[in-house]
Amino acid sequence: RVLSGRGRDLTGRRVVVSAGGTREAVDPVRFIGNRSSGLQGYALARTAVARGAEVTLVAANVALPDPAGATVVRVASALELREAVFAAAESADAVVMAAAVADFRPAAPSDIKIKKSADDPEPIHLTKNPDVLAELCERRGDGTGPAPAVIAGFAAETHDVLANGRAKLARKGCDLLVVNQVGEGLAFGTPDNAAVVLVAGGDQVEVPRGPKEALADTVWDLIAPRLA
Ligand code: CTP
Ligand code: CA
Repeated sequence: RVLSGRGRDLTGRRVVVSAGGTREAVDPVRFIGNRSSGLQGYALARTAVARGAEVTLVAANVALPDPAGATVVRVASALELREAVFAAAESADAVVMAAAVADFRPAAPSDIKIKKSADDPEPIHLTKNPDVLAELCERRGDGTGPAPAVIAGFAAETHDVLANGRAKLARKGCDLLVVNQVGEGLAFGTPDNAAVVLVAGGDQVEVPRGPKEALADTVWDLIAPRLA
């Protein structure tokens, strides 16, 4: 990092990173989840600490050691993640939403373990979760929520990566969107990522396949000057 010339350019900055994937309860022993490992979010937290930031890491169901120097808040569901992110964002300069937040949750999780019987089970009815990233951006805009200078999201796309990414950036109203290409041994659970970072207003930065730490540093490279 010293060699890269980035130094401690995030000194005095407070950043929030969400990582991992939420779990939505079906009953006391079962959940609907996703394949996010948390590796990219943890890499963002580690690199931010290395660059001098005060880091709050909101970690959803991640089997990774706490990054030294970061404050780690553990959550399970999307609703818990929303609470933790909004609380930490109150004093933050930047929020990076690397977590895979479930779009839906079971509408009425069972209080007791669902038992099997001879028949097929009842369908599980789902209801929409709040969109934490979109709500952060909207409430920054209308002055009803925290006002970090930079709000960034992540998106994994399998096809029409750039077009889907641009549309999503506009829909969410965030400042940066890191669009991962999934498939071909990339993303979920792997140490490498390839991505294009879309900046609101037009710029885009391609990050070739490489370690998640390198993508993380590129994301902070784009965020740091926007915090001034
Ligand atoms: N996100 C969020 N809350 C949700 C869903 C997503 O904050 N309920 C955030 C993720 O953390 C990520 C970004 O939004 O930073 C994009 O997530 P993605 O699933 O790609 O976007 P969606 O709007 O849910 O679109 P899709 O239909 O492609 O899943
Ligand atoms: Ca989604």
